[in-house]
Amino acid sequence: MEAAINILSPDFDKNPYPLYKQLQEEHPLYFFEPANAYVLSRYEDIHQALTDPAYTVKNYEFQSEPLHGRTFIQMDGREHSQYRNLVAPSIRGRDLAEKLMPIIDETAKEIYAPFLSKTSADFTTEFAARFPVLVISGILGLDKESESNFLKWYRTFVDFIGDLGQTPEITAAAFKTKDEITDYLLPIIADKRENPGDDILSTLCHAEVDGVRMTDQEIKAFVSLLITAGGESTDKMLSHTLRNLLEHPDQMMDVRNDRSLIQNAFVESMRFSPVTHRLMRITSEEVQVSGGTIPANSQVILLLGAAQHDSSVFKDPESFNIHRKELDIGKAFTAAANHVAFGAGRHFCVGSMLAKAEMDVAFNQLFDFTESISLDENAELVEKGLFTRGLYALPIRYTLK
Ligand code: HEM
Repeated sequence: MEAAINILSPDFDKNPYPLYKQLQEEHPLYFFEPANAYVLSRYEDIHQALTDPAYTVKNYEFQSEPLHGRTFIQMDGREHSQYRNLVAPSIRGRDLAEKLMPIIDETAKEIYAPFLSKTSADFTTEFAARFPVLVISGILGLDKESESNFLKWYRTFVDFIGDLGQTPEITAAAFKTKDEITDYLLPIIADKRENPGDDILSTLCHAEVDGVRMTDQEIKAFVSLLITAGGESTDKMLSHTLRNLLEHPDQMMDVRNDRSLIQNAFVESMRFSPVTHRLMRITSEEVQVSGGTIPANSQVILLLGAAQHDSSVFKDPESFNIHRKELDIGKAFTAAANHVAFGAGRHFCVGSMLAKAEMDVAFNQLFDFTESISLDENAELVEKGLFTRGLYALPIRYTLK
């Protein structure tokens, strides 16, 4: 349990996977003093922590509430399901297929339009960093004129999450954004209460919990959470998925020839190169894990990135293979998923089906207008981040059809 491995070190940031393996084998329960937290790295312990109510989400009281306000990500039990269910049906199933797909499709077309008059691009900044956040604003029913504000707000939130409160300027920018989003949304909420549309924001404005309508501040918090939760992860996974396919041309060919494999490429990319590497929990009672006991009221860091590379669950975990059986693709977007990239249990990602739809549209359109795609020969791909990992650039060259 001694602090032999620094999970905040530059080495870890460069390549966490060898250190994950070392933790799993030598320190499955590891107290990391600088963060005052226990660290879990084995798949079975992490899955247990995500599904056992003894691990609460009170951590979001300091990880999420200061930025967004109080939202269902930090609620447990009945309160959590009541609030979660206000939005869940609108971003899955029939509503997703009928109402959201046209918005997703149109948004991708608009962002790809400039790609059609050239043969190279930075996929990360020109597509991935714009697409999911513009989809969210579209499905919320927010106007297109605010696009540049939306992208700016989203970036300051993402920078804040990655910075872990270290840089005062980044923290100050995030709190300024919080005020700007509030000022922008409150008049829109007032308007949607009077003149509802067929969008998710209007649904929230008229939703009731125990017979009581949500307050303006609650709705604002909800929207603010959706912008970051639904933006950053999908943004980074778009680039990881394309990078992985470009580095494995045979599998790229398989996906181009059978578009139903886009979902395999996405899920295997979340396993092989996940965006969310760490989640936190706080124990409400003493819990047993591999290697010992964690006392009540302890902070616990769950290394999702390690679980995704646990060889007891995923055979040959360091290889990228979209055909691997353990992906169990039929369940991969549900709470019964075998991977933990979307979490597990009651807080399993509410946007998993929306993320899948965005991936399908983004790659189908990209393959439709390109004959072939390759990495720019001068590209130096750098994946960075301790809590969430992503690429900062993915320069590509392509031939048009
Ligand atoms: C590749 C894409 C995505 C990944 C990898 C991802 C990952 C995750 C993970 C790991 C959690 C669990 C957090 C926890 O248990 O503490 C989560 C929850 C959540 N996600 Fe996603 N997410 C993605 C896309 C989306 C999208 C598109 C939305 C948009 C609506 C979204 C909204 C949320 C929300 C609101 C929660 C909180 C759920 C709850 O507490 O019940 N996510 N996501």
